[in-house]
Order: sequence, then C-alpha cells, then structure tokens
Amino acid sequence: SSLTSTLKDVLDHDLKRTNGHCEIPLESADDLREGLTTIEGRSKGLIRFIDAYREYTSLPQPVVRSVRVKELLDKVAQFMKPDFRDSGIVFHHTCQSEYLTIQADEEMIEQVLINLIKNAREALAGQADGRIEVRGSYDEATTYIEVTDNGPGIIAEALEKIFIPFFTTKKGGSGIGLALSRQIMQMHNGTLTAESRPYERTAFRLRF
Ligand SMILES: Nc1ncnc2c1ncn2[C@@H]1O[C@H](COP(=O)(O)OP(=O)(O)OP(=O)(O)O)[C@@H](O)[C@H]1O
Ligand SMILES: [Mg+2]
Repeated sequence: SSLTSTLKDVLDHDLKRTNGHCEIPLESADDLREGLTTIEGRSKGLIRFIDAYREYTSLPQPVVRSVRVKELLDKVAQFMKPDFRDSGIVFHHTCQSEYLTIQADEEMIEQVLINLIKNAREALAGQADGRIEVRGSYDEATTYIEVTDNGPGIIAEALEKIFIPFFTTKKGGSGIGLALSRQIMQMHNGTLTAESRPYERTAFRLRF
C-alpha cells in the first residue's frame, strides 16, 4: 500500500541519517543511554508522522452549504486573535462585499484558513513589522479568499514543493498543513495556489 511504501521511505531516510548508528557496539552505560534516547526520539517522530498521515488520508466529504464569506472571516479572525496578542504582528481581515457567498463546508474552509494564518504567523516570527491580511473578494465568475504576509517568503523552486505531503522546513513541523488545505480546496472544486515576493507579499489564494 502507499502507507507502507511511504513508511519505508521514512525509515530508509532515518537509517541513512543515523548512518547505521544502532549497530555500533555499546561500550558504556552512556552509549546505551544515548542509543535509547535516539530510539525514543525516532519513535516519537514516527508516531507524529503516522498521526499526520492518518489525518491526511481520512478527510471527510464536505457538507456543502451557503456560507457568507464575511461571517466566516469574522469568525476565523475572532478565533485567531489570542495568537496575535503580544506578537507584534498586525492582523487584518476585510471582505469586498458583505453579501459575498460561497458553497462550502464551513468547518473545512475554516481549517484551511487557520492553517494558512498559522503558517504566516510562523513565517513572521521575530520580524518587527509583520503584517497578515485575510481578504475576501470576487470578480465575474469567481470568489477568492487570500491570506497574505510580508515575511521572508518562499523561493520559486519551493513554490510547488510546499504542497507535497510531509514537505516542511520547520523543526518539529509535519508538513501536512498545505497538502491538506489543497486537498480540501480540490474537494470543493476549487484551487489553492501560492505566490511570493520575499518581504513584500507572500499570498495564498483560495479560489471558489
Ligand atoms: N506564509 C509562508 N511563508 C513562508 N513559507 C511558508 C509559508 N507557508 C508555508 N511555507 C513553507 O511551506 C512549508 C509547508 O507548509 P505546511 O503548512 O504544509 O507544513 P508546516 O507548516 O511545515 O507543518 P504543519 O503545518 O504540518 O505543522 C513550510 O514548512 C514552509 O517552509
Ligand atoms: Mg503549517
């Protein structure tokens, strides 16, 4: 199955990285302790990985209703507010029209927006003039929700990789947020795309 082959890749990768470390004869209690700590760390990593994999493969079918974009954004902003207290990051949300409506599973789209806002916040960590904006808009045929930040951004070569399951550049990240978010948008017959101009505008765009 794809789970076992993915697991095999992860294990192979770990074995290569530890360089056969476990096979070195243990000469002292310190070696043994170090060996056990390595194994413990890897087990935790694997458990995290399996949990993330399960979450990724067991997405429910969306329950589609009419959702007012403004109300959705108000709700997400309210929910995320505590995260920005004392962070120095300015967080804004706007909607082009209060009547703007999408056909969507509200909770799933909320989850997508929360993933994107968390990523933006993580990208802005330690930056003095950090700004995040969430904006609902529309043109003739399409409704958009965009999450933008002015953080370090994403180099062109990485722009498609970031959507691959388990791709992460974060220590302790599982690399699942964007893969899940894109899958959720596909289930809504929509798209999720990214563009980035470092320290100016990194934007994730939901298209309905
Ligand atoms: N706003 C952003 N600015 C810069 N880089 C970003 C941004 N959003 C995502 N990325 C890059 O994309 C990668 C994948 O993001 P994704 O949300 O899928 O995983 P993660 O945040 O690393 O881990 P998880 O979301 O599972 O905790 C991140 O590790 C980061 O390198
Ligand atoms: Mg993330």
